[in-house]
Amino acid sequence: MQYRVEPLGLQHDREAFCCGNDAIDAFCQQAYRDHAQFRKRIYVACESDAHIVIGYYALVMTQITSGRAKKHTDPAVQIEMVGVTKTYQARGVGKLLVAHALHQVYVVAQTVGAIWVWLRAADRKVADFYIQLGFHWLDEKQLKLYLPIEDIISLIDSER
Ligand SMILES: CC(C)(COP(=O)(O)OP(=O)(O)OC[C@H]1O[C@@H](n2cnc3c(N)ncnc32)[C@H](O)[C@@H]1OP(=O)(O)O)[C@@H](O)C(=O)NCCC(=O)NCCS
Repeated sequence: MQYRVEPLGLQHDREAFCCGNDAIDAFCQQAYRDHAQFRKRIYVACESDAHIVIGYYALVMTQITSGRAKKHTDPAVQIEMVGVTKTYQARGVGKLLVAHALHQVYVVAQTVGAIWVWLRAADRKVADFYIQLGFHWLDEKQLKLYLPIEDIISLIDSER
């Protein structure tokens, strides 16, 4: 099956989206306003010939405090939500969404600057999914994971 990932639009049907995580499912239904106001950006996965949303993620600009005294604030992009509707899970859609997110972060870093991408995993099992994709622990207790921009740049440059 071929999938595509693109910015959320009014043509997309989010009605039946259900990944099994209540917060992520609810966010998918409410997402359009934040996206339209450019508060965050939502990207959706669909089958190549349809507009039914089978997966989505959100990106938002944030800051991370770093250094021993936590005195530095670094520009960072947060992957806020990632979800794949139940019937499409374990088919590579999640991986495709994260790869797409990293390409978007690469563009942000090149154009306005960003040093990290980070996210909070829903649970320990999901954290393993991100670790498998190259993420590192930022805060294991809070299930926060990150990738430095250097890793994203070398990942994307190696694809060229
Ligand atoms: C987590 C989620 C986004 C992964 O998407 P997916 O489309 O099912 O994942 P993929 O098919 O791309 O899986 C890629 C790899 O990660 C592994 N993986 C997927 N989900 C996993 C999980 N929950 N725990 C551990 N590994 C997982 C797969 O086995 C696969 O490995 P492989 O390439 O070696 O076969 C999806 O299962 C989901 O929406 N879950 C419910 C909502 C949720 O918890 N979202 C995360 C919020 S942070």
